[in-house]
Amino acid sequence: MADAKTDHQIPYVNLAAQSEEQFDDLMQIIGQVLKQGAFVGGQKVAEFEEKVADYCGASQVIALNSGTDALMLAMLVAGVGRGDEVITPPNSFIASTAAIVHIGARPVFVDVLPDQNIDPDKIEAAITPHTRAIMPVHLTGRVCQMDRIIEIADRHGLEIIEDAAQSFGSAYDGRMSGRFGRFGCFSAHPLKNLNALGDAGFIVTDDEAAAQRIRRLRNHGMSDRVTVAEWGLVSRMDVLQAAVLTYRLQKLPDVIERRRNNAALYRKLLRHADLFVPDCAPKEFNTFHTFVIQVQSRDELQKHLAARGIKTTIHYPIPIHLQPAAKDLGHGQGDFPVTERQAQEILTLPINQHIDESDIKAVAREILSFLNEGSANDKISA
Ligand SMILES: Cc1ncc(COP(=O)(O)O)c(C=O)c1O
Repeated sequence: MADAKTDHQIPYVNLAAQSEEQFDDLMQIIGQVLKQGAFVGGQKVAEFEEKVADYCGASQVIALNSGTDALMLAMLVAGVGRGDEVITPPNSFIASTAAIVHIGARPVFVDVLPDQNIDPDKIEAAITPHTRAIMPVHLTGRVCQMDRIIEIADRHGLEIIEDAAQSFGSAYDGRMSGRFGRFGCFSAHPLKNLNALGDAGFIVTDDEAAAQRIRRLRNHGMSDRVTVAEWGLVSRMDVLQAAVLTYRLQKLPDVIERRRNNAALYRKLLRHADLFVPDCAPKEFNTFHTFVIQVQSRDELQKHLAARGIKTTIHYPIPIHLQPAAKDLGHGQGDFPVTERQAQEILTLPINQHIDESDIKAVAREILSFLNEGSANDKISA
């Protein structure tokens, strides 16, 4: 295979390359914000909200400081609070569960499917008289089995708060992530496909009254410049981030296409390998926030790749129910066996939009050679 290469580093992310590609435009945007001298609220934030609303086909978007606050505010406004239970998977980024804890509710974990998303078959057994909401997490950019989850939620009168932090732009059967429940909560953290130059997030909803209340809550609970209607937070998106995100929203289709192409190439190259490779179901539109394989000798494979300059990572090595912070929930090893096994086997490969075909081929070649699947070169040139 002539064009595979491992003679240079293949980074897991490459935000510097993104900055370089957009440098002149970003400097102009930053310059404009500086000249206007308005850094909180106003037209640029409203413009970002309008553009995201168009993109998602939603009537309301509330720009916020983070995906974590998006989750907290959505739950607050949905009336989830002290004494309530929220069903969620134990294999997400810690923020999903932390948001539940911070609003005073109790996270109730439900194990996941081989594809790492919540297992709808296990949800009903976790419902109690205290259950108020289900928080599915569209992990890796793959939309959960929402038809099943909606059916269960409707039957039990539960809210759905989607943790869509990793799945902006993803869809299932033409329906966009974040548009299945009353609230879709997104992160625009630098590592997300639509990324700010720092922390940012937003909520997407069609509920106008709820949106109005979230707008108030993100700004100290103030209903006007002098009146505090309720105790609020400081969860606003900065003008600078809104301006950058409005610009980057135009680039998002290209980012998604590049990531999907990278994923397709990985899938093709690894199709015969003895490991779990994320598939793409016919109705599924996955934006591949991450590309996570599952392999038994994960730690050895990660070392093998690292020794050849290929950076990988693990999302997430310690399941949430086994984190020290979660000890009060009373869980132990063995409570969520699929999540626990996956924590030993998952490995996130570089898939960012700045790696090229030869990088992907080099990664796949090294995986195949590690797995001793015969001649890696033969497979890759097949
Ligand atoms: C699944 C998931 N939920 C919630 C969050 C929290 O988002 P943020 O970091 O913007 O607060 C993240 C991202 O970081 C995430 O990946």
